[in-house]
Amino acid sequence: MSLNYSKKTMEHFRNPRNIGEIKNPDARAQVGNMVCGDQLSFTIKVKDEIIKDIKFLSFGCASNIATASVMTEMVKGMTLEQAKKFDWNKIVAKLNGLPKQKIHCSVLSVEGLQKVILEYEKKHQKNTKIINKKTVAKKATTKK
Ligand code: FES
Repeated sequence: MSLNYSKKTMEHFRNPRNIGEIKNPDARAQVGNMVCGDQLSFTIKVKDEIIKDIKFLSFGCASNIATASVMTEMVKGMTLEQAKKFDWNKIVAKLNGLPKQKIHCSVLSVEGLQKVILEYEKKHQKNTKIINKKTVAKKATTKK
C-alpha cells in the first residue's frame, strides 16, 4: 500500500531542516512511539525564554522526519510559553495534510518539543534553587 504524501511532506523528508544535535544544548530529550517503534531526539538553545535553536535526530519513518523538520522551523523564535501551546494540527496544516495513519508522527514531534522544554525548565528551576540556597546562606552569614 502506498501512502499519499503531499509534495511538501516529501520535500521536508528529502531535505530535512534543523537535523543534527546542538553542541552544549540547554536541554535534550528523546521520545518514542511504543506502537511503531519510531523515535525522535531534540536539543535546544534558549535565550531570554526564546527558542534560539532547535535540532532533531530521527529514528523513524518519512513523516517522522518531515513533521520534526517543519515543526523545528515553525517553533524557532517562539517563546517557551508559545511553544508549549504548539499543536500538532499546525504541523499537518503546514505539510498540506498527512495520511490518516501518519497523524501520530506529528503528535510524536510535539511530544518531543514539550519534553525538551520540560527538561529545560527542570534544569532552570534547579539552578534557581541553587542560587536561592546561596542567597539564603549569604543572608544567614550576614546576620551573625
Ligand atoms: Fe510512527 Fe511515523 S510511523 S512516528
